[in-house]
Amino acid sequence: MKKTALTGIKPTGSPHIGNYLGAICPALELTKNHDALYFIADYHALTTVTDKKLLKEQIYGLAATWLASGLDPEKVTFYRQSDMPEVFELSWILSCCASKGLLNRAHAYKASVDNNEATGNDPDYGINCGLFYYPILMAADILMFSSHVVPVGQDQKQHLEITRDIAQAFNQTYGNILTVPEPLIQENVKTVPGIDGRKMSKSYDNVIPLYSTEKKLKKRINQIVTDSKEVEDVKDPDNCNLFEIYTYFASPEDIEKTRGRYLAGGLPYGELKKELFELINNFVSEGREKYNHLMEDKKQIDNILAEGAQKARSISIPLMAEIRKAIGVQ
Ligand code: ADP
Ligand code: TRP
Repeated sequence: MKKTALTGIKPTGSPHIGNYLGAICPALELTKNHDALYFIADYHALTTVTDKKLLKEQIYGLAATWLASGLDPEKVTFYRQSDMPEVFELSWILSCCASKGLLNRAHAYKASVDNNEATGNDPDYGINCGLFYYPILMAADILMFSSHVVPVGQDQKQHLEITRDIAQAFNQTYGNILTVPEPLIQENVKTVPGIDGRKMSKSYDNVIPLYSTEKKLKKRINQIVTDSKEVEDVKDPDNCNLFEIYTYFASPEDIEKTRGRYLAGGLPYGELKKELFELINNFVSEGREKYNHLMEDKKQIDNILAEGAQKARSISIPLMAEIRKAIGVQ
């Protein structure tokens, strides 16, 4: 029996090359030997996105990104979280198995409280209950489909620990019904730096978009920040985000050659930016075409997600029935 892999991404902005290399690509690799369920965590996005037009566009954008990157909806159960009523029912049940203290310690909530305390505000100032409850909904996403492995970035490790805690608490009270999942933190996938050298992230506005226009791609690559060394100066490839981004796309031979040129002096950063643009542009061109095609035919995306929802619910409906019996409401 194949193990089940499940993961979700929030539709909170345009997907970037960090999302592709750190999340989408490794998740697609896993589909080769797992039963995979991948979904769009649109209700998680509600903790921050309140513009309905924007949310809708971002849901389509993320769905088209997965599909253009090679997700085969025949092989992967691909759905939208908001199409899964059972997940929300389960999340309430799980909230009754979770101690409040467990959620008090969750990083995102704690960071907001710390920030309020540092600025002299009430500890819960401006924090919506969705942010506090976020880990419970994520636990429901995972436990509803008896997932064995959950590929996520390092930042999600604590959410997986919370999920395991809650599953164990539920099982202790009601019997062994929920599968306790293992996180799969991709150790070999490093954090891709953004154009300013910090982690590439939508929240820092430092991303290189994945399937945008050639013009935008070129503009962003030209904006990669480098030091101010002259062309003839010796440069440091190990402390240069332009070089690091380049290593994700160039061949091992070209990486070595370029490293040599950094160390020898005489390499203009502008020339490497041009080369990087060609590399990334080539790498994304097929996906970009598929992406644009899908974004012009949103009905096709709707149909794929509706079919995925049906497949997913053929798992969640019977498990939910079992859970209702186990807790005594049916
Ligand atoms: P962002 O930081 O841009 O808001 P998300 O938090 O929505 O990105 O992340 C979605 C997925 O992409 C997660 O699995 C996360 O680990 C991965 N990811 C995000 N940024 C990077 C990055 N710079 N390098 C590698 N993986 C990343
Ligand atoms: N919290 C995850 C993130 O911010 C997204 C997510 C929601 C998720 N539900 C999930 C990831 C279930 C894995 C499994 O990246």
